Amino acid sequence: MSFTTVERTSPRLNRSQLFVPGVRPALFEKAAAGPADVICLDLEDAVAPPDKPQARKNIIEGLKAVNFGKKSISVRINGLDTHWCYRDVIDLVEQGGERLDLIMIPKVGTAADVYAIDMLISQAEAAVGRKKPIKLEVIIESVLGLNNIDAIAASSKRLESLHFGSADFAASARMRTTNIGGVNSEYVVLTDKDANGRRETHWADLWHYPLSRMVHAARANGLRPIDGPFGDYSDPDGYNAQARRTAVLGCEGKWAIHPSQVALANEIYTPPADEVKRAEDILAAMKEGTAKGMGAVSLNGKLIDLASIRQAEVIVQQMQMIREQTGN
Ligand code: COA
Ligand code: MG
Repeated sequence: MSFTTVERTSPRLNRSQLFVPGVRPALFEKAAAGPADVICLDLEDAVAPPDKPQARKNIIEGLKAVNFGKKSISVRINGLDTHWCYRDVIDLVEQGGERLDLIMIPKVGTAADVYAIDMLISQAEAAVGRKKPIKLEVIIESVLGLNNIDAIAASSKRLESLHFGSADFAASARMRTTNIGGVNSEYVVLTDKDANGRRETHWADLWHYPLSRMVHAARANGLRPIDGPFGDYSDPDGYNAQARRTAVLGCEGKWAIHPSQVALANEIYTPPADEVKRAEDILAAMKEGTAKGMGAVSLNGKLIDLASIRQAEVIVQQMQMIREQTGN
């Protein structure tokens, strides 16, 4: 290990993050009754400009009236380039009560964006004497944000997670695609001819680079990386494939833009039972090995060493948190 250690943010179950437009308060109760780990009440892109003030009122009322149980509750505010942003923050902190856990800042481009919101929250929290500090999550969804991601990830003690927003990112990079988080038939590689002259087309993942970049910036700063939306909610197989890839990369969860995606995310971002068992076996075998003074041992014909302990601990710790918070 480096002499510099990375302090992990406080753990929070974030396998699924269900978005609910602030203009549909009837859905708040439904979301609360469902299995999402985090509910994100939206003031930004799911709310049309004339409806922003009403959505804000609905959310403030919902934060007080709805029983959200053990779920984490987030509100996505409007971006710093809009005149709704400051009012979103002030009203939420002054009137929203203690139930609000997180504020999500969209379209973050620089560390100063986070600083500005942190400053507003800090003043409003102090003014109302709020007991529990509101934490932050930010969306990386522009080329500016991706270029400045290391500074953004280190920008505030309130920051817990980085989220990847594919649609706005694609627009910002002027990518030629209109899907949200899915694949594109133009983004492929063509293999060389085989012995019989046959060639194959392999679909590739056009989100791989920004997502990997985000995972590494998040983890290097002790934050959770979370994969964003998959717009085609009538394609569970597509969601499944995208989510499995990002789970392997290190993401802890994914957005759900329809309730049907919540169960998929909960399942995919829970480590599979066989992986948990293997991780537990590795820890047990290494414990035995180190007691005998061995740094590397064999488990089922495969090498395991001290690095295997660290890999296995990631899976076992994640599973412990899931068991504690869901009772399963
Ligand atoms: N939260 C909680 N419940 C929801 C929901 C949500 N986001 N979206 C739909 N539901 C409920 C519906 O009320 C319906 O309940 P019912 O069976 O009791 O009638 C059920 O789930 C099925 O909904 P469905 O009819 O398939 O969806 P819809 O046409 O009402 O809404 C969307 C579809 C996509 C408009 C809606 O899911 C939505 O607004 N999602 C969030 C969008 C968002 O916030 N985007 C911003 C982030 S990218
Ligand atoms: Mg966006």
